[in-house]
Amino acid sequence: MSKLLILVTGKQGQLGWELTQLADGHQQFDFVFLDRTDLDLSDSQSIQKCIEQYRPAYFINCAAYTAVDKAETEQPLAYQVNAVATGVMANACSKLGATFITISTDYVFNGKGVKPYATEDATEPVNYYGYTKQVGEQLALANNPATIIIRTSWVYSSHGNNFVKTMMRLMKERDTLNVVADQVGSPTYARDLATAILQIINQLEKGNKHYGIFHYSNAGVTNWSDFAREIAQQASLSCMVNGITTTEYPTPAKRPAYSVMDTSKISTAYGIVMRDWKEALQECILQLKS
Ligand SMILES: NC(=O)c1ccc[n+]([C@@H]2O[C@H](COP(=O)([O-])OP(=O)(O)OC[C@H]3O[C@@H](n4cnc5c(N)ncnc54)[C@H](OP(=O)(O)O)[C@@H]3O)[C@@H](O)[C@H]2O)c1
Repeated sequence: MSKLLILVTGKQGQLGWELTQLADGHQQFDFVFLDRTDLDLSDSQSIQKCIEQYRPAYFINCAAYTAVDKAETEQPLAYQVNAVATGVMANACSKLGATFITISTDYVFNGKGVKPYATEDATEPVNYYGYTKQVGEQLALANNPATIIIRTSWVYSSHGNNFVKTMMRLMKERDTLNVVADQVGSPTYARDLATAILQIINQLEKGNKHYGIFHYSNAGVTNWSDFAREIAQQASLSCMVNGITTTEYPTPAKRPAYSVMDTSKISTAYGIVMRDWKEALQECILQLKS
């Protein structure tokens, strides 16, 4: 009997790459990983053709326009990739009866919350990237009943560009660093999220089917400045981190001040257990050192 096919976009990105690392441990599935040259999400017709060509059982969309600040000035492209293309992928999957899994962001929230955001809480993005992801969520849900949207936050990996790698590089070059202390959220190790996605697919295969919006991050809450201090400590880098305010570090795109998400729904539905963010960070730093 032929194996079920999982088609994955964004293979050069953090999450897509982590999935490539896990594929060998999931021999019950066939995987096809696509990068931008295989499938450009700014071309809707190619998306349709590509999905019809591969006829996957599961489609995991790890590709996205993720340049949060640049999205403010590159709005049409960000909208096409994060909103329009997400709807097209969901629709093409629906025609084949394929499950569509796509990733969204804590940046759909306005950041004025004081307790972890539940999946059904109102969204009100404060930047254009968040807006494109919000529309992408709506189009995916409207176009395919078998859609799973996983909102995540503060993603890092040993692969690609991210806060952890930037901090480690700067901490080797400088004695002190100023890092924003008044934005609160939860870091996510992309390896853990990739593992959770494959756990979900295994659960779906067993008939445990829950669709809609879920939240996933590592457990625990921090701010960027304390996150940086933990990186310094774990990587044994002797750099002083000064906490500064968001107003002292202006960026083209606004960031939500508070974006902690309540992750209980994904645990209840799929039995996923999130480890503490500091433990996950340790694994990533070990990976980077090796
Ligand atoms: N990073 C975070 O902190 C964070 C936080 C919350 C949510 N998320 C979401 O999590 C998901 C995974 O993020 P990530 O951190 O793994 O992203 P990433 O490392 O920035 O990777 C994104 C990937 O998307 C690809 N891509 C961009 N435009 C494309 C296009 N037009 N056609 C095809 N591929 C395109 C990029 O290709 P190239 O390699 O060719 O550029 C890249 O490989 C995304 O949906 C993101 O919005 C991320």
